[in-house]
Amino acid sequence: METEFQCGNCSECMAVDNSRKGHDIACPSCGAELTVPLQGSIQTGNVIEDHLIQDEIGHGAMGKVYLASHLLMNRQVAIKTISPKIRQDADSVEQFIQELQMGARLSHPNIVTVYTAGYVDGVYYISMQFIDGFDMNERIDKSGPMAESEALAVVAKVADAMSYAWNEYNMIHRDIKPENIRVSTRGDVMIMDFGLAKVRTDDSSNEEGLVIGTPDFMSPEQGEGRTDIDFRADMYSLGVVLLYLLTGRRPYIADNPFDVVAMHINRPLPAVKVLNADIKVSEATQALINKMASKDRDERFTSWEEVSEAVDRIIAGPQRKPKSGGKAGPKKSVRSNNSVKSIGKRRRRRRQSSSIGIIIGLVVILAVILGAVFASRI
Ligand SMILES: Nc1ncnc2c1ncn2[C@@H]1O[C@H](COP(=O)(O)OP(=O)(O)OP(=O)(O)O)[C@@H](O)[C@H]1O
Ligand SMILES: [Mg+2]
Repeated sequence: METEFQCGNCSECMAVDNSRKGHDIACPSCGAELTVPLQGSIQTGNVIEDHLIQDEIGHGAMGKVYLASHLLMNRQVAIKTISPKIRQDADSVEQFIQELQMGARLSHPNIVTVYTAGYVDGVYYISMQFIDGFDMNERIDKSGPMAESEALAVVAKVADAMSYAWNEYNMIHRDIKPENIRVSTRGDVMIMDFGLAKVRTDDSSNEEGLVIGTPDFMSPEQGEGRTDIDFRADMYSLGVVLLYLLTGRRPYIADNPFDVVAMHINRPLPAVKVLNADIKVSEATQALINKMASKDRDERFTSWEEVSEAVDRIIAGPQRKPKSGGKAGPKKSVRSNNSVKSIGKRRRRRRQSSSIGIIIGLVVILAVILGAVFASRI
C-alpha cells in the first residue's frame, strides 16, 4: 500500500510506500524536505482517489469536511469524512455505499449533489458538490436574526426540495438544522447531508429505535425513538429552524442533549416574541411555525405542498380589496413572480393585438371612403 500526497512547496504529487509514513523524504521534483503524512490519508495535501485535499472547511459530529479538487474532473468538491467510531456497528463498506446510494439519486437545484463515496485507511468519505457560501448558523452568528421575508424565502426553497425527495423517492432528511442549510455566494439555498443521518449509527440509540439527528431541532417522534417517522418529522424541524432564523435563538436550552429531547416532547414551543422580545412577525408566520412544529404530527400540514402554499400566501401578503371596477389580487408574490409576469405579458400581448386590429379596421374604412369619393369623381 502506498500513501499519495502532495509537496507543499512545488505541488508535485507523489506516492510513497506506507512503511515510510512519518519519515522525512526529499520531494523528487523540487528537493524540499517533506514528512510523509502519519495517520490516515485524509488530510491536507494528500491525494485520495483522485481528490487533492486542500483545506479543512469545518467539522461536525461525524468527522471533518475538506475542500478538495478532483484532479481528473478539474472541479472543486467537498469531502466529508466519517470517523470509524461513528460507523462502528456498520457491517461493511458495501452497506455504507448502499445507504448513500439513495441520497446520491437525488437531483434537485436545492439539494447538494453527492458524487462518490469510498473507504481509505479506515475512514469513510463522501465527495459532494462544494457550496461556497455560509450555513444558516454562520449567517445568524454574523448578522443576527433574519427579516421575515428572507427567512420565509429560505423555508420555501427547503420545502420545495423536501417535497421532491418525499414525493419522488419517499426520502426524508432526518437532520434538518441550520448547519445543514447553506446559501451559496450566488444566493442558492442548498440542503446538505440528505439521507446521511441514516448512514450514521451513533450510540444514542434506545430500545425502540435509533435516535438520529441533532436534539436542538429534533421532532418529538424522533426523540421518542419511533421507527415509523415520515416527512412530518422534517417538517417539525424546519418549523423550529424558521423560529431560529427569525429570533436567532434555539427554543430549548438544557445542560445535556437528553433534556433538550425531553423538552421537544413535553414543553410547548415558545413563540417568536417570547424567544426574542425585539422581534415582531406577522400572525400568519407565527401560525405557520405553530402548525409546522406541532407536537402531534397529525396536527401538522398534511403535505409539503400545503407548507409551500401557506408560505406563498404569507409572502404574497394580504389580498387587496377590489376597488370599484378594479381587480382583487395579491400585492406581490416572490414565488409566483414568473407566472405573474407571464400573465402580464399575455395580457399586454392581447391588448397590443386588439389595438393593431382597430388600426387595420380604421385603415380599411378610410380606404373604402377614399375609394368611394375617388370613384364618384370619375
Ligand atoms: N458540501 C459542502 N460545501 C461546503 N461546506 C460544507 C459542505 N458540507 C458541509 N459543509 C460545512 O462544513 C461544516 C461541517 O459540516 P458537517 O456536516 O460535518 O457538520 P454539521 O452539519 O455541523 O454536523 P453533523 O455532523 O451533525 O452533520 C459546516 O459548516 C458545513 O456548512
Ligand atoms: Mg452537516
